[in-house]
Amino acid sequence: MTQIIDGKSAAQQIRLELKQQIATLPKMPQLDIVLVGHDDASEIYVRNKLKAAAEIGLKANLHQLDEHSSENDILALIERLNNDSAVNGIIVQLPLPAHINTHKIINQIAPQKDVDGFHPYNTGMLQNNEIPYFIAATPLGIMKLVQRFCPHLSGKNVVIIGASLIVGRPLATLLLNQECTVTITHIHTQNIKELTQKADILVAACGVANLVKRDWIKNGAVLIDVGINRCDGKICGDIDFADVQDKAGAITPVPGGVGPMTIAMLLENTVHAYLLQHQS
Ligand code: GUN
Repeated sequence: MTQIIDGKSAAQQIRLELKQQIATLPKMPQLDIVLVGHDDASEIYVRNKLKAAAEIGLKANLHQLDEHSSENDILALIERLNNDSAVNGIIVQLPLPAHINTHKIINQIAPQKDVDGFHPYNTGMLQNNEIPYFIAATPLGIMKLVQRFCPHLSGKNVVIIGASLIVGRPLATLLLNQECTVTITHIHTQNIKELTQKADILVAACGVANLVKRDWIKNGAVLIDVGINRCDGKICGDIDFADVQDKAGAITPVPGGVGPMTIAMLLENTVHAYLLQHQS
């Protein structure tokens, strides 16, 4: 029997604990979200983040900029938020419009307010196996789910499909820091199935609906599905959920797996930001 890794209930528990913690603070922690343009998926993600923040007593502000905004417009807004002591956490929703240099924007966020953990200070500290201010929310949520099913990660073979800044790269580093043997695959990887078949833990984060089939996986593997794709009017992941049933040891469903944990980790990072900025 394949176990279902219930990210929704794990996230609910974390949100409840955060709500109780926030109630003891003298002031509401504040998260400021920058959204440029009108990407459909981004608007939904941002709405979910704002709603989740409000539910646990975080103050969340949305700064929605026109899709034709210049790099300088966005940099000026970030600078203002960096210098505003009421702002504890800043995120810039990705992807940005094509005319914007994403790295230039991310690099402007003060590392102590970078609750997405994307700034090179934070990614660099993670690479060095030192403690960054923040770790990116999706990889952090995945680690929490994986550790429940694999408490002993040392020596495990992990394959990650997708080498993104947001998921694949930071997750590979987190797993390497836990002594896993990590392979990152991507669109140019040859004979990918030969690699995924050896994985004790397989993470699919490539945005290709139902890519991973039964013959891609090892018996008993732990499968983590980061995909959010639209198929036949429904949401589906990068792993063919029905096809891998009873072969996988455990799997995160889509929806209800990684997604809710990502939001819970962003909220946790924002509370952490508040505490960082109020420690004397
Ligand atoms: N776009 C997709 N995922 C994320 C995320 O975790 N943070 C930001 N800022 N943008 C995203």
